[in-house]
Amino acid sequence: MSAEKEGNSRGALVLALETSCDESAAALMRGRELLAAEVFSQVAIHGAYGGVVPEVASRNHLLALRPVLEAALASAGVRLQELDAVAATAGPGLATSLMLGFSIAKGIAVALRRPFIPVNHIEGHLLSPFLHETSGPRDAVGLVVSGGHTLLVRIHGTGRYRLMGKTLDDAAGEAFDKVGKLLGLPYPGGPNLAKLAEDGDPKRFAFPRSMLGSGDFNFSFSGLKTAVRYLLPKQDPVPVADVCASFQEAVVDVLVAKTLGALQAERVQTLAISGGVSCNVRLRERFALACQTAGLQLLVAPPALCTDNAAMIAYVAALKLENGAVSSLEAEIEPSLNFASWLKA
Ligand code: KG4
Ligand code: ZN
Repeated sequence: MSAEKEGNSRGALVLALETSCDESAAALMRGRELLAAEVFSQVAIHGAYGGVVPEVASRNHLLALRPVLEAALASAGVRLQELDAVAATAGPGLATSLMLGFSIAKGIAVALRRPFIPVNHIEGHLLSPFLHETSGPRDAVGLVVSGGHTLLVRIHGTGRYRLMGKTLDDAAGEAFDKVGKLLGLPYPGGPNLAKLAEDGDPKRFAFPRSMLGSGDFNFSFSGLKTAVRYLLPKQDPVPVADVCASFQEAVVDVLVAKTLGALQAERVQTLAISGGVSCNVRLRERFALACQTAGLQLLVAPPALCTDNAAMIAYVAALKLENGAVSSLEAEIEPSLNFASWLKA
């Protein structure tokens, strides 16, 4: 009993599993302190198919989850029986992938008689830049740029968000991946394209900066992708590095301009960037410079917390528990969970 009390006074010990796509991840957090975060990436497996194959992803989650969970427990030096709560990603994501982490986490919660906390993957990304901030989520504009989403969100605090803008077609990461495919780069296109862009001329091709003057905070990246598609047959040989650098610059230009506009409109001083595309070195450089010039604070998580991971899921669960969340054993996976429907929930 005394050990239990001691545990509680240091904050709840939370296990989170994340399996929304092709990373099998487990993390442990005590209070807001991250104790361990393990990820098994299936990128090499899906690379052979040129993209994520849902059936293959779910089989590999099944194989990877137990070792990933055991590695997280060993690294944190805790036992399963010590957990105070169990969390998992509910959506959005691939149904057959979500199901694995969600069901296993729920099973552990039931077996241990602990609360089960479902977490929205996008909220995980959105709040990940605050994970190492002692103050936690606060007034900010959040830019989520992942493979499935490009969102501008006004953050008022944990659980209090307003959608300011989103992509009307392709997400930023999706555009990177599709252009990578057009160029014949290995999967995933984003990081491979970014690597090649390092040696390219970002001014060589004047690709479109869509919706810069749209007067709202929405994005569109499909025209940019089409511009690359039309350009390629006219080039022989294709100057791959220059195409990559020019494409990347066009994406980053739009993201920086729209996001700075959102910060100005909201008169907030903090920008929190998250999602896989926020690993992009050029994007980080450009936002760092823009924020420095405008006197804004930039929060961007280390790369391991930008791509899919369970630390961000554990963090949201920890914040929810602080705010009095109770167990939701009746919750089910929600593969199509989107920001708007979740706000209404
Ligand atoms: O957040 P994430 O791991 O998964 C989703 O929730 O979608 O994001 C994956 C996306 C992919 O589209 C990937 O190509 C992109 O992030 N990405 C990058 C970079 N690293 C990952 N895009 C551009 N530059 C990078 N360095
Ligand atoms: Zn993600």
